[in-house]
Amino acid sequence: MRTVFWDYNSNQLNMIDQRLLPSTFEIAVFDDYHNVAKAITDMVVRGAPAIGAAAAFGLALAAIKSKATSFEELRRELNTAADLLLQSRPTAINLHWAIHRVLSHIPGSCNDVDELRQFILNEAQAIADEDIEINKRMAKNGAQLIQDGDTIIHHCNTGALATVDWGTALGVIRMAHDQGKHIHVLVDETRPRLQGARLTAWELSQYKIPYDIITDNAAGYFLHSGQVQKVLFGADRVASNGDVANKIGTYMLALAAFDNNVPAFSVVPTSTIDLSLNTGNLIPIEERPQAEVLDITIAERKVSPEGATAKNPAFDITPNRLITGIITENGIVYPPYDENLQKVVITTTKP
Ligand code: MRU
Repeated sequence: MRTVFWDYNSNQLNMIDQRLLPSTFEIAVFDDYHNVAKAITDMVVRGAPAIGAAAAFGLALAAIKSKATSFEELRRELNTAADLLLQSRPTAINLHWAIHRVLSHIPGSCNDVDELRQFILNEAQAIADEDIEINKRMAKNGAQLIQDGDTIIHHCNTGALATVDWGTALGVIRMAHDQGKHIHVLVDETRPRLQGARLTAWELSQYKIPYDIITDNAAGYFLHSGQVQKVLFGADRVASNGDVANKIGTYMLALAAFDNNVPAFSVVPTSTIDLSLNTGNLIPIEERPQAEVLDITIAERKVSPEGATAKNPAFDITPNRLITGIITENGIVYPPYDENLQKVVITTTKP
């Protein structure tokens, strides 16, 4: 089943509600783009490619449900919807990429309101379908690097749930496992939202890939004691110099990997590469609510004292010097990234 999919009978968007996993599997249904934007902010759907597809379908909802009677009126409404969807989360470039792709691909010959509605839906569907195909290409490229017997540390959730299906870094692990390689995954629990402990562990159980959940701060121990051969993670945005914005904790993980000569790879579709930014320091870092840190409970008691405050950056920047390679659907990119990344980014312009 896909993480994000359109129901053609009801003309509604369906998404797995990732906040409820692993205890409850539930499909959330959307017929209003405002609610899609809120679902992205609230992390009903999360993971860079998945929120890109969700935003594209959000535009489709705006188009299909609109009462506009002229092309110009619908075009204006789409711009309003795009503005709202763009604000839903700031770091993952896939959201911008998907919205830009849908709106910029509207053919010049299209001037009929129903034709426009159909075009937006078709384009959103194409983004979703292509995502799976791209993930499988990335997975095949990355699986070449995985050796039989490897133990891999994985951060956050980069699997089918973070995409439309299959996954990025977890997709590589899945492909290597399907190729018959024996792999053990050390799953960073990924505080504070625990995407690793909740979502990655759930996915690995389904694929029957052996794993252990580790606390984020145990990664250094496993790397230093020689128990790990690779570190894999995704990215929410890659700058043109190869700096990587990814889930908070990636920087410390990559540092520990570097210090112990363990290769660390970021696995990304080329839609995650932002060639307009020449350094990761320009990538906006989302600050999420303090409650995500402060409301953690043990034995039904809040861990933090009453009145405590918290800082909760959702992402960090890993400098390019710590990244061994960047695995994309168009090949594996090695340093110097400022020269080599642009070779894999193929700009698609439609006639
Ligand atoms: O805050 P999230 O859960 O949306 O963050 C997701 C990640 O950081 C993933 O590692 C990233 O999107 C790349 S995986 C497709």
